[in-house]
Parts: sequence; C-alpha cells; structure tokens
Amino acid sequence: MDLGSWTTPLAYVGLASTAYIAYKFISSAAIYLLPSTLIKTHNCSGKNWALVTGATDGIGFGFCEELCSRGFNVILHGRSRTKLEKRRGELQADFPSRKIGIVVLDVCELAAGMNGLAQDVQAILTAHGGDLTVLVNNVGGETSPYTCLDGLSFDSARQTIERNASATLQITRELLPLLVAGERGVILNVSSISAYGMPYISVYSSTKGFINTFTRALEAECKAEKRNVDVIGLTVAEVNTPGHPVPPGLFRPTPRVLASAGLNRVGCGRVMAFAYFPHWIQGLSLDVLPRSFMMKITAERMQALQKETERANKKQ
Ligand SMILES: NC(=O)c1ccc[n+]([C@@H]2O[C@H](COP(=O)([O-])OP(=O)(O)OC[C@H]3O[C@@H](n4cnc5c(N)ncnc54)[C@H](OP(=O)(O)O)[C@@H]3O)[C@@H](O)[C@H]2O)c1
Repeated sequence: MDLGSWTTPLAYVGLASTAYIAYKFISSAAIYLLPSTLIKTHNCSGKNWALVTGATDGIGFGFCEELCSRGFNVILHGRSRTKLEKRRGELQADFPSRKIGIVVLDVCELAAGMNGLAQDVQAILTAHGGDLTVLVNNVGGETSPYTCLDGLSFDSARQTIERNASATLQITRELLPLLVAGERGVILNVSSISAYGMPYISVYSSTKGFINTFTRALEAECKAEKRNVDVIGLTVAEVNTPGHPVPPGLFRPTPRVLASAGLNRVGCGRVMAFAYFPHWIQGLSLDVLPRSFMMKITAERMQALQKETERANKKQ
C-alpha cells in the first residue's frame, strides 16, 4: 500500500485534532480568569437576599460568609434551630450591616407543603425588604459513606437520595417563583466529582449525577421559558469540612475558599463547571486516563477511608 498519498490528509487531520483539543482545553481553563457577574447582575441594588441550604456547617456556611462579604443579606437553611441561631449570631457579628434570616426544614423528611418553606422565605423578604436573587442548593452528603450497596439499610439509602437529590429539586421547585419575581436570579447547584460514578458511595454518587442532569434540564427550561434566572452546576472535589474531615491543602480547600471560587463562576457561560481551579486540574485526569485505572485507584482510596472510619468509630 502506498502511504505517501495519505501523508498530507493525515497531517491535516492531526493538526485539526490538535487545534480542537487545544481550543477545548484553553476555553475550559479560561473561565477561571473571567470576572464574576454576581454583584453586577444579581445584587445591583445592594439589598438582595441569597438563600443557602445546609448552611450550618462546611461549604454551606462558607457560602454564607462569602455572600455576606459580597453585599447580600442571607437566609440560612438547616434542620437545627439552635445551630442556625448560633451561626446567625456569628455572621451578624462579622457582618453587622447585613440582615440574616433563618428557615428550618429537615430535608430527609420532606412532605407536601415543605413545612411552609416558601411562606417563611416570603415573610422574611416582606419584613426586611428586597428580593430573593440567589439560591445555593448546597445541602447534601452521604448517610453511610464507604459502604457497599448491599450493606446499606433502606433508610440510609432513602436519606442520601432525599438529602442530595430530592432536597435540591423540591426546594428549587418551591422557591423558583420567588427567584423569578425580582432582579435576575441565579441558582447554584453544588455537585460532586463523584457524579463520574464511584464505588463505595454508589447512592451518593448517583444523586450527584441526578444534580448534573437536573441542572442542565432546568437551565434549558428557564431559557426556553425566558425566565429571569441563570442556573449553574458547580462540580466539587475534596473540601475540608465536618462532613469530609480531610487535612486542608491546595487540592482540599477550606469551605470559604471553595465558596468564593463557586461564586466567581457566576457568569462564566457554562451550565456545569468545576468551582475551583485546582479541582478542574484534578478533573482532567478523569477525562484523560482510562476509567478502569481511575476506578482502581478510587476503590483503593475508598477502602482505606472505610478502614479509617471503622477505626475512628471503634475509638468513640
Ligand atoms: N466536602 C467535600 O469534600 C465535598 C466534595 C464534593 C461535594 N460536596 C458537596 O458539598 C455540599 C456540602 O458538603 P459539606 O462537606 O460542606 O457537608 P457538611 O460539612 O456535612 O455540612 C452539611 C450541611 O447540610 C446540613 N444538613 C445535613 N442533613 C440535613 C438535613 N436532613 N436537613 C437539613 N440540613 C441538613 C448540615 O446540617 P447539620 O449541621 O444539622 O448536620 C450542614 O449544615 C454537599 O452537597 C456535598 O455533597 C462536598
């Protein structure tokens, strides 16, 4: 076979492929240089409100601190009134000019009416003035981490699905009318790199896949309906939080650093984006390396975490 006649076309194919990969890489990395449009678009009047779910700890509280520092009044959602009051006090001390509201709802016990969530939020807005323009769907976590599927109880699996998937869907459904009523709104859905499909956290991992698809579907629906709201899914890898107590470092930021990065992605033009640049770099490995290799490493890490958790539980 004469390969000579193929050399030129193959060179063009190679060049085109390299240019395409370089374009995808650069355009994906470039979003970390774009300025956030959060304040310009979603808090023009400086008196708007943001609601953060799962706000009493971890990334949720980090979002509350960052939103307060960027001029928003904040409504904290949680399941414990005592914890919410404590966190409200801390925020009020750090940001005396902000208004802080609280709403109580256990998202593992959702029922029709949602405990009057929308009415409670509306009452806060009416009492203090301003609109709800930001919803951060952050509440989430695995009820029984590092467990095989058949080791989970019915209730543990149900709670993980409700805490992560149902909570985001039902809270968004309930609050969407308030978000579209005011200045342009934004919904930030906190997802996870585990949506890739990871062993020993299969239920949690699947709920984050749900969040990704829900985010894409809702974004398209809001656009088609010309709703005054942007929808963004934030992919997150490891963060040092009470729910995931790993040592902090460059690839394991503190909740506030992660929250700041997440808010900086508003206006980036993507429906789904890694919130934090070093996590985006980690995410590249999932695109580039073979899945079988990545899952072998992940399974080993999960097994090690499983042993650590067992040891810690025995000590208690
Ligand atoms: N940390 C990570 O490495 C990581 C990685 C990827 C994605 N994420 C995602 O980031 C989000 C926050 O994670 P995190 O690590 O910050 O979690 P966390 O430290 O465990 O905090 C979770 C928050 O949600 C609240 N919450 C839990 N169950 C609830 C319920 N049934 N009803 C109402 N509130 C409830 C908790 O309230 P209490 O204080 O009452 O428990 C707390 O405020 C989650 O969606 C998680 O999937 C985290």
